[in-house]
Amino acid sequence: MTGTTSVVVLSGGISHERDVSLRSGRRIADALNRLGWQVRTAEPDARLLPDLLQDRPDVVWPALHGASGEDGSLRSLLDVAGLAYIGSRGAAARLAWDKPTAKRVVADAGGATPASVTLTREVFREIGARAAIDVILGSMPEGLVVKPARGGSAQGVTVVEAADQLPRALMDAFTYADEALIEQRVTGVEVAVGVLDADGGPEALPAVEIVPRSGFYGFEERYTAGATRFYTPARIAPEAAAAAGELAALAHRAMGLRHLSRADLIVDPEGRPWFLESNVMPGLTETSLLPQALLSTGRDLSTAYASITERALAGD
Ligand SMILES: Nc1ncnc2c1ncn2[C@@H]1O[C@H](COP(=O)(O)OP(=O)(O)O)[C@@H](O)[C@H]1O
Ligand SMILES: [Mg+2]
Repeated sequence: MTGTTSVVVLSGGISHERDVSLRSGRRIADALNRLGWQVRTAEPDARLLPDLLQDRPDVVWPALHGASGEDGSLRSLLDVAGLAYIGSRGAAARLAWDKPTAKRVVADAGGATPASVTLTREVFREIGARAAIDVILGSMPEGLVVKPARGGSAQGVTVVEAADQLPRALMDAFTYADEALIEQRVTGVEVAVGVLDADGGPEALPAVEIVPRSGFYGFEERYTAGATRFYTPARIAPEAAAAAGELAALAHRAMGLRHLSRADLIVDPEGRPWFLESNVMPGLTETSLLPQALLSTGRDLSTAYASITERALAGD
């Protein structure tokens, strides 16, 4: 590749992860600048599409988190505009963004994911909260996690330890999405596993173990310095680490994800990993999980990002 590859890195946006996105964007731009490429950053605003259509950069890197970056819509627009971009295509991103659908696809492909029920706000109201809650508690008695069916950064997510917390947890989830996912809680070691496409197929990076001081990996625990400790590689048995890598790669393949993704998993005390979700544009800041995992393998970010850019330029 010559030194003239032109890249537009999209970052910012209006999601609550705006700040993380701006930091990811700067970090990506730094890594690509080191290759001597022509890199510019842009915000996803009203000027974006006209500017992109006029400039027609070789490749676009949508480093956007939250709905605007990960729900697939912007990617679908890039698809129809015929612009090459980094990461999953619109349809695959939409699938992964919808947690209940993602879980179904991963389960059908043979991956383990906690038992769950998905409830719309309408059904919850129509059949009565009490009746719904009784059925849920009857089928999943040993602890639940309630979350918006679509969302990120643990917003609207509650670990329900006592039955009387469930109504409030559902209402919280419904403030972020029209559907709530009520999932069996898995206790164990939380890990994040980055996946990068390589010539032989998707390759899992070492699992990063997440240990929040508060015990729950919530919004504050993600974005406050010192609130969470990370261990790379995760302090789990080699067999469990291998199984986590296999599950992350299986999720990437089953959902048809492209270039990079990061699976959020919990490894139970038997060493069995459970799939929670895959993120199609994981954080790529200096402290984010995927770059930490990549650096731990001795690879450098510029080379890794150049290699996925080459895939995007080649159309795969
Ligand atoms: N089934 C579960 N069992 C235990 N903890 C969970 C479960 N689901 C989610 N969590 C916790 O909630 C956090 C957020 O859930 P996740 O599904 O990854 O959504 P988000 O898109 O908000 O990151 C996870 O990082 C994990 O700490
Ligand atoms: Mg997550």
